[in-house]
Amino acid sequence: MNKLQLTLAIFKPDISLNERAVSEIRKIILKDNYLFVRTKFHKMTLEKAKEFYKVHEKKFFYNRLVYSMSSGPIWCHILARENAIKEWRKLMGPTKVFKTIYDEPQSLRGNYGVTDTRNTLHGSDSDENARTEIDFFFEDFDINKWYANEEKLFR
Ligand code: TYD
Repeated sequence: MNKLQLTLAIFKPDISLNERAVSEIRKIILKDNYLFVRTKFHKMTLEKAKEFYKVHEKKFFYNRLVYSMSSGPIWCHILARENAIKEWRKLMGPTKVFKTIYDEPQSLRGNYGVTDTRNTLHGSDSDENARTEIDFFFEDFDINKWYANEEKLFR
């Protein structure tokens, strides 16, 4: 087994109260060889959403993004898998849902997404960001300790 990597996967408010969608997506995640390391049902305040997406502060979609992300509860997951960051983003599909019509109709965003903003899922885009984002939602999770123990736990 190759080394496992951690990523943060969020189910956005668009689907988090849809039990059927949540359970279908979790089954797909498990079938694709991910381990659920931590799971948390959470409601972000507007301030927290602004902080989480600060990098997009100047973008035209920032306001609708942060209002949408704080409009209801979200499911946050720490997922582990080989190449988790790249693979989860591949499974999610393109940011802009309309692209799924031609490019990746079988992706999760293709199946569940509604608009560019309400694209149902989030995934970290780099190892550095995965660490920051995991810290952001799971303050008590020691990511360095997890990586240090990974070999002992999973081999
Ligand atoms: P981004 O980091 O570019 O995409 P991703 O989520 O795929 O890493 O954008 C963050 C979120 O901002 C995206 O999931 C939804 C929202 N967004 C829009 O609403 N409109 C847009 O045109 C873009 C690019 C993003």
